[in-house]
Formats: sequence, structure tokens, C-alpha cells
Amino acid sequence: MGKLNGSVAVVTGGTAGIGLATAKRFAEEGATVFLTGRRQAELDAAVKLVGHGATGVQGDVAKLEDLDKLYAVVKEKAGRVDVLFAAAASGGFVALETITEEDYDSTFGTNVKGLIFTVQKALPLFTDGGSIILSSSVVGSKGIPSWSVYSATKAAVRSFARTWTTDLKERKIRVNAISAGPTDTPGLTALSRDAEHDKQLKAYMVGMIPLGRLGSADEIAKAAVFLASSDSSFIAGTELFVDGGVAAV
Ligand SMILES: NC(=O)c1ccc[n+]([C@@H]2O[C@H](COP(=O)([O-])OP(=O)(O)OC[C@H]3O[C@@H](n4cnc5c(N)ncnc54)[C@H](OP(=O)(O)O)[C@@H]3O)[C@@H](O)[C@H]2O)c1
Repeated sequence: MGKLNGSVAVVTGGTAGIGLATAKRFAEEGATVFLTGRRQAELDAAVKLVGHGATGVQGDVAKLEDLDKLYAVVKEKAGRVDVLFAAAASGGFVALETITEEDYDSTFGTNVKGLIFTVQKALPLFTDGGSIILSSSVVGSKGIPSWSVYSATKAAVRSFARTWTTDLKERKIRVNAISAGPTDTPGLTALSRDAEHDKQLKAYMVGMIPLGRLGSADEIAKAAVFLASSDSSFIAGTELFVDGGVAAV
């Protein structure tokens, strides 16, 4: 028997990396999964990989009309949401001196604005007692050079987990954040300009991690299953670090 049998789960940014691994785990645990991403071809491939009757809904979380479209499909096909994993995010390294308005708008637009409305627009469909999991990051608690804009968005996400826990307490909806450490995903690789930079950056990150390696997307997905399921029934408003110990040292 799966840990999410009979649940309806939405995963934004479900076509690659941590979101895709989580959509896959959710489906294997018995959930009916809806996943999103902006690129249609990647979405189609992800839906195939996740299997178990998963549905893909193309869209950008930063566009409110796309979120309306997502939840209209969920409403029509499933009628409710029990679990939401808000994983869609973007943002790279930008030195303080060179941050542009565009960097700010696009990173906060996806990671903060997009996440707020991903949650807000799910609420009319949300089951009381359900679970909302927000994708934060260890960088929300760290001071990694040239990562201020992205890191600040993740600190905002961590804060939402706390505030929304009280906002939604009457409905017993649990809101938690997962803060992954450096995790081997296409998104991590995309931070580098070339293969040599990728090697150096990953070696630098591994050097910060007490467990001495990058995480895998599936290791984060397993934590998301824990927060989605009744195994975490008394956990609310927390930030769960899944990071090989990097935030603690
Ligand atoms: N990898 C790490 O080291 C790490 C560490 C800590 C936290 N995290 C967090 O974990 C989450 C997943 O990271 P990842 O590394 O797995 O990312 P990834 O490999 O870059 O995958 C990102 C996913 O989000 C989708 N996406 C991006 N922007 C979107 C938008 N505006 N609207 C809808 N979908 C969007 C992408 O598809 P499209 O491009 O097709 O839209 C893709 O499916 C993020 O919240 C990230 O901040 C990652």
C-alpha cells in the first residue's frame, strides 16, 4: 500500500530534477499526479516517465492565467488537491554590482510571486488536512557569494512556510519547506558556463558538504513523500534540511 494512495498531488516544475523525481515518487506511492513546466516537449517526456496516469499541464508559475488554467484542469479531472509541491524556481549567480532589474523581476517573479499564487490559487480546491510543501534551499540561510537574489527568494519561501501555517491553521493544512543542499539536477548544471566551470563549482559545493557529495534528486523526493504523507502528521511550519549537513556547519 502506497503512502499517498488515493491522494491528488500537484507538482510545479515537475519536468526536471527534484520536481520530476518527486512527481515520480508521488505516483509510485499511489497519488494521482498533475505536473507542470513551461516546455511542452519536456512536459510530455516527464508525463511518460512518471506514468500511473499522470497529467501534464503546460504553464509558467509566474503567469497567473497559467495557474488558473492548471487548477481548472485539476478541478475538472480530480476535483481537489491533497498535496502540493511547489518546486518551480529559477535563478543563477549574479554579483551584487551587476544585478539588473530583469534579474530581480524574473527571479522574484518565479520564486516568490509564482509560489504565492501557486498556493493561493490551489486553496479553493485544497482538502482540509492536506499538505503543502514549498521548495526553499539552504542558500536561504547561507551567504554564498554572488547568489543574493536567488538566496533571498528562498529565505522568503522559508518565511511563507511559517506564516501560512498560521494562516491555514483552521483548515489543518500543514505547510512545510524543504531546503535542499546542492543536488545533482539539470538546474545545478545550468549554473555553470562550461564543463570546466561545472567541475569547479560542484567541487566547491562538495567541499562545503559534511557528507562529502552532492545530493540526488531522489533523496529530496523521499523527503517530499515524508512531508506529503501522514508519516509527518505532526510536522507543520518547519524547514526540513535535506542537505548532507551543509546548513548546520
Ligand atoms: N538543485 C539544487 O542544488 C537545489 C538546491 C536547493 C533547492 N533547490 C530547489 O529545488 C527546486 C528544483 O530545483 P532543480 O535543481 O531540480 O531545478 P531544475 O533541474 O532546473 O528543474 C526546474 C523545473 O522547474 C521548471 N520551471 C522553472 N521555471 C518555471 C516556471 N516559471 N514555471 C513553471 N515551471 C518552471 C522547469 O521546467 P521548464 O524550464 O520547462 O519550465 C523544470 O521542470 C527549486 O525550487 C530549487 O530552487 C535546488
